[in-house]
Amino acid sequence: MNTAIIAGCRTPFVRSGTHFRNLTAIDLGRHAVTELVARTGISPDTVDHLVYGTVLHDPQAPNIAREVGLSALPKDVPAVTVSRACASANQAIADGANLIEAGCADIVVAGGAECLSRIPILASDRLSKTLVSASRAKTLGARLRAFARLRPRDLVPVAPAIAEYSTGESMGQAAERMARENGISREDQDLWALGSHRKAHAGTEDGRLTDEIAPFYLPPRYEVTVDRDNGIRADTSIEALSALRPVFDREYGSVTAGNASPLTDGASAVLLASPRRAYELGLEPLGYLRSYAITALDPAGQLLQGPAYAAPIALDRAGLTMADVDLLEMHEAFAAQVLSNLQAWDSHDFCRKELGRPDKVGHPDPDVINVIGGSIAIGHPFGATGARLTTTLLNELRRRDGQFGLVTVCAAGGMGFAMVLERA
Ligand SMILES: CC(C)(COP(=O)(O)OP(=O)(O)OC[C@H]1O[C@@H](n2cnc3c(N)ncnc32)[C@H](O)[C@@H]1OP(=O)(O)O)[C@@H](O)C(=O)NCCC(=O)NCCS
Repeated sequence: MNTAIIAGCRTPFVRSGTHFRNLTAIDLGRHAVTELVARTGISPDTVDHLVYGTVLHDPQAPNIAREVGLSALPKDVPAVTVSRACASANQAIADGANLIEAGCADIVVAGGAECLSRIPILASDRLSKTLVSASRAKTLGARLRAFARLRPRDLVPVAPAIAEYSTGESMGQAAERMARENGISREDQDLWALGSHRKAHAGTEDGRLTDEIAPFYLPPRYEVTVDRDNGIRADTSIEALSALRPVFDREYGSVTAGNASPLTDGASAVLLASPRRAYELGLEPLGYLRSYAITALDPAGQLLQGPAYAAPIALDRAGLTMADVDLLEMHEAFAAQVLSNLQAWDSHDFCRKELGRPDKVGHPDPDVINVIGGSIAIGHPFGATGARLTTTLLNELRRRDGQFGLVTVCAAGGMGFAMVLERA
């Protein structure tokens, strides 16, 4: 593949229920896309398509891409929403690249948004059926009879769970299972989380992380500016992390609020271009998308192990091996998931049995993995993370004079996403 990635930016990623609690994913997406266009200096008229990801769809605006596009781009730019759980922004980038490589577009904005402060709250099944029958009732009596069947518990609102539809298992429970089955210790999870916070704090202080952030002036008074991620804990320590109680298996578990990614609000965007159009417009690419791969596992198995399967395929498609990877950006849903995937790549047994490869895939030195921290510290607005990873990877490849980078994301449904990027 040969799609140019010109630039990327994002809103600050903030813990749900804090700065962005009165905003919507559309507000956040508009901000990221508007800022991206401004930063690249392109005329918005040159954008051919917007591809945007989200996970928890607002039933009143199910095509978030179109709503974001209507407020951030000319009204004649088509827009499509994509949803592949936590890999939704990666999917948006891949779809954008596919549009470009198929000759259907030259300039695409891709990314995603999530506002977990504003999740759609559902009515119970009985209440929703009652409301439908009451709306169809022809007389007042029939309407009242429909409501008479309701019980008080039917009135309790239903919040969407971060759980598998097919198995009912939550992501956190699946991470617990991975930790147990793969022998990932609590201490190693906490150390990984500590590293995530320390690196993200360093990147915030020296500006590498904040350079990618478009400061947000909070409406309605615009007096408060949010210009950094607010989940990064400069003061955390291994002692503080190890004192936290497990959340998903209170008795025997090892996954805590400290070694899991927090619920987060935010949005991101990247500008994709055909090399020809980038040249015509004088846009200097940060890098190129060389390949991507998507895999799927039985969600009842190792739900978050998808990257272990997807990355070797993406590397094959780019004609590379893990040894060629200068930087690796792994989405950190949970420390247990990151460590399980790294362990799998490094296992002859796993690579032979599960991947059908003669040798282990291996993984890069931990010093080149998530070098400015990861989702545990920075946060994880589901639909937005993939474009954050892409932007950070390309900026960091340039700073370090590296050539190839790998992005991996695990996603609900047992899916894994990997993409190979090359610095321009
Ligand atoms: C794990 C989870 C349930 C925790 O939620 P929460 O309880 O609201 O988390 P909080 O931020 O309030 O943290 C709980 C406590 O741990 C503490 N804590 C969290 N991280 C810490 C750290 N790094 N160092 C020290 N203390 C920490 C908090 O200060 C808080 O302490 P308090 O109760 O004294 O205030 C929630 O973040 C979650 O569901 N995460 C997983 C999301 C998910 O499944 N994503 C999909 C993956 S792709």
